[in-house]
Amino acid sequence: MNVNEIENYAKLQPLSAPYAKGKVKLPNRVCFQPMEGCDCMENGAPSELTVEKYVKAAKSGAGLVWFEANAVCPEGRTNPRQMMLTRENLPEFKKLLSDMRSIAAKEAGISPVFILQLTHSGRQSITPMIAYRNPVYEERRPACDDMIVTDEYLDTLPAKYAESARLAIEAGFDGVDVKSCHGYLFQELLSSFTREGRYGGSFENRTRLYLDSIRAVKAAVPEDFLITTRLSVSDMVKKPYGFGTDEEGELDMTEPDRLIGILADEGICMLNVTVGNPYHNPHVNRPYRQGGYTPPEEASVGLERFETIERHVKENYPSLTVIGSGLSYYRDDLIGQSERQLREGICDVIGYGRVSLAYPMFYRDSLKGEFSGKKCCLACSKCTLLMRAGQVSGCAVFNEYYRELYKRTCMNK
Ligand SMILES: Cc1cc2nc3c(=O)[nH]c(=O)nc-3n(C[C@H](O)[C@H](O)[C@H](O)COP(=O)(O)O)c2cc1C
Ligand code: SF4
Repeated sequence: MNVNEIENYAKLQPLSAPYAKGKVKLPNRVCFQPMEGCDCMENGAPSELTVEKYVKAAKSGAGLVWFEANAVCPEGRTNPRQMMLTRENLPEFKKLLSDMRSIAAKEAGISPVFILQLTHSGRQSITPMIAYRNPVYEERRPACDDMIVTDEYLDTLPAKYAESARLAIEAGFDGVDVKSCHGYLFQELLSSFTREGRYGGSFENRTRLYLDSIRAVKAAVPEDFLITTRLSVSDMVKKPYGFGTDEEGELDMTEPDRLIGILADEGICMLNVTVGNPYHNPHVNRPYRQGGYTPPEEASVGLERFETIERHVKENYPSLTVIGSGLSYYRDDLIGQSERQLREGICDVIGYGRVSLAYPMFYRDSLKGEFSGKKCCLACSKCTLLMRAGQVSGCAVFNEYYRELYKRTCMNK
């Protein structure tokens, strides 16, 4: 298809239209978002449960599969079963990706793009490694000065990101995500206003490690390899303990704009937009319908915030492919809202998080006219509660295995 044909097709079938911008070429606009299952082997290799989830992603027809958080080093793992690609377990990753490519071709008739999310969990690591003392975060999880990582330790990380990116190429990934979101190390550094030294205080210092890591990855990979990022454009935590906010905790795009401009100049091709910190304000990141707590804002406020930010990024940084988030809330209206966002130019590709666990075949069912709102995610947080309880995580409503696990481990606690 030429550009005009794609544009015409996109008006009629927005989700199914192929997408092309620069290096990014996707068979459709459906992205399975990174969803950590905490279910890998202790050495970081995919387990049977991990494989099961990614095989479903391959069958789903999604044109873009964004793999879950993958630690770049053992001390940066958030739990002992977090994904971690290493030289030793490379064959298992190679096999998974090769199987996924065959399955996607055979069952969905497409060749999807696979991105690996590279992360260091920082404050959320098994032994917390914090950027600075943050009283807002420490209300829930106390910390102490000994946990503050040294500049010398941070200096070692860009090389680790570069090495993970090299391994990702060998494993068969099309690109990596240098992740800065949800309160993990790089995101926390963005708000390290009160930290001393090379990684705190000024904008240049707070963004240094993130940008140095992107540059190290860039130097380690061939030109056509995709370097992407998932960014909490704002964590919606009051300045000086949050990024992209003012002293009242309202969204302030001044610094995010400056940062996104640099990311675009550095050659980042896809920006997977996210907001908030799920350990502090989970409703911001995952608009919420039912469950054990009452969020301080209506879901509509969070949904609108996503759209405002995504539209802003798409309008102002035309070189970036913008991935949208937070749509699992819509249930019956999932496809309608996705198509509307694409038609209105809010984002380029729709990212699906919780619904990809609850109802992995939703997109292919929609193509056949068999989409069922009843199978869609309830936005109930049980998958997150499983994770927080130290269990493997999946949909505790629609998947029997996780439903039983949830009953045994999370109910009446
Ligand atoms: C159980 C669970 C695991 C998640 N794991 C990740 C992850 O590994 N990396 C990431 O960037 N976001 C992760 N997220 C956030 C999702 O990718 C997504 O942004 C969020 O759920 C909002 O989208 P949704 O409304 O479609 O669910 C996770 C969310 C949940 C509920
Ligand atoms: S447990 Fe299932 S239904 Fe509930 S939020 Fe998670 S994916 Fe959705």
